[in-house]
Amino acid sequence: MLRLENLAMVFGSGTPDENIALRSVNLRVESGDFVTIIGSNGAGKTTLYNVIAGSCVPSSGRIVMGVDEVHTGREITREAEYKRARYIGRIFQNPLLGTAGKMTLADNMMLCHKKGYKGLKISLNKGMREQFQEQLRVLDMGLENRLNDNVELFSGGQRQALTLLMTVMSRPSLLLLDEHTAALDPRNAELIMNLTLRFAGEYRLTVMMITHNMTHALEYGNRLLMMDSGEIILDIDAEEKAKLTTEGIVQRFRDIRRQELANDEIRLS
Ligand SMILES: Nc1ncnc2c1ncn2[C@@H]1O[C@H](COP(=O)(O)OP(=O)(O)OP(=O)(O)O)[C@@H](O)[C@H]1O
Ligand SMILES: [Mg+2]
Repeated sequence: MLRLENLAMVFGSGTPDENIALRSVNLRVESGDFVTIIGSNGAGKTTLYNVIAGSCVPSSGRIVMGVDEVHTGREITREAEYKRARYIGRIFQNPLLGTAGKMTLADNMMLCHKKGYKGLKISLNKGMREQFQEQLRVLDMGLENRLNDNVELFSGGQRQALTLLMTVMSRPSLLLLDEHTAALDPRNAELIMNLTLRFAGEYRLTVMMITHNMTHALEYGNRLLMMDSGEIILDIDAEEKAKLTTEGIVQRFRDIRRQELANDEIRLS
């Protein structure tokens, strides 16, 4: 599905403010994978998404999409962000970012629906409204009765649920979630998580999910990555993940860091 080869992202290269956000990231994500990504603030997680989605051009390395046993994939390293948006869905922490607040729910749904039918003239008729209502009913938030309300009237949880629905409706090949439940209260966070899992299963999505919630990172998905200082320092498969505890992850992180410190000392001595 996705292959990253020696990806690096250096901000302010050659200046006193030089900041290496990614250093030689190599990763292969298979179709249908649900990968959880953890790592401390500034580890490079969002930068990794920026590079995959095309918001940033990497300083070096390659991004290849559509890789599997049969296909060698297509390089997209320099493809424009808006083009990648057709097959890469992205949801942010801020629930206000995914929908247009000043537009009605029906118009938001219409915009999303039209994405799938480029160039065709489609008007918001009774049939469309019924179709949207049916899709909204899945969220179980009563939004199917609020098609004429401006989306800015909705709660953060409702808007994030809507963003999630609209994103999966456009059938992305890859869904990038960047702490998408972090700004919600625990009840709404659980609700959005449950919807995420449901949609991932129903639409057979390939998902990468950044989270600071260790329990979510362990509980969900079939693979866990830990990033630190611009590198993937842990890559844990489903089998190992099932046995791991949050304390276990912290211990693995400490072990790696201790080993690196020891190596540094050897180099310096
Ligand atoms: N546009 C930019 N210009 C300069 N430095 C940047 C830019 N974007 C990110 N960085 C730096 O890159 C590093 C990685 O940032 P990034 O946002 O990817 O971290 P993160 O793992 O997502 O952290 P958090 O958990 O806080 O969201 C940080 O040191 C950050 O300051
Ligand atoms: Mg981030």
